[in-house]
Amino acid sequence: MGNFHLIEHPLVQHKLTLMRKKEASTNSFRRLLNELSMLMAYEVTRDMPMQEVEIETPLEKMTAKVIDGKKLVFVSILRAGGGILDGMLTVVPGARVGHIGLYRDPRTLTAVEYYFKMPQNMQDRDVIVVDPMLATGNSAIAAVERIKELNPRSIKFVCLLTCPEGIAALQGAHPDVPIYTAAVDRQLNDHGYILPGLGDAGDRIFGTK
Ligand code: URA
Repeated sequence: MGNFHLIEHPLVQHKLTLMRKKEASTNSFRRLLNELSMLMAYEVTRDMPMQEVEIETPLEKMTAKVIDGKKLVFVSILRAGGGILDGMLTVVPGARVGHIGLYRDPRTLTAVEYYFKMPQNMQDRDVIVVDPMLATGNSAIAAVERIKELNPRSIKFVCLLTCPEGIAALQGAHPDVPIYTAAVDRQLNDHGYILPGLGDAGDRIFGTK
């Protein structure tokens, strides 16, 4: 699987296991997702461009490296993407944020767009699209297609959990977009849910079921 990054760090795997448990409360599910997102942000920003700036320590002047957080845009796929967004912004507070609203037509499982709001000057920015579950891939494919219309410098996709069908679909449509995930589960069921998975991520983040 080219352009694919499995984040196997023990802290990531441990927290994901706790989140999968059906008895995990809304509170602990959300807190764990927030912590996990910070750890995934660390991996996905590993190759971010840096620049040198002049600073002064208490002892002398030096040149030191900084990232330009403003060049980075986190694009959250509503509504579950919000669960990853908070943790990512904790570690890159200068990042800009875009939102894309897509819902799954329950009959066809295709993505229907109802909201799209991005920062200005996307052609100068690196985009990280976030959605906890890469399942059928329909939402991810539609989101990346819309973002590509704005010609950003680069696009990456981060999810918590995916399956072979989701990876094949996204890589088939957008082979240039690297996928970062904490796990690849067995399969999709007939309703487009990942097995064994963790259930409906949006419902578990927001306590709506
Ligand atoms: N979306 C979810 O929230 N869970 C799945 O298993 C698949 C898609």
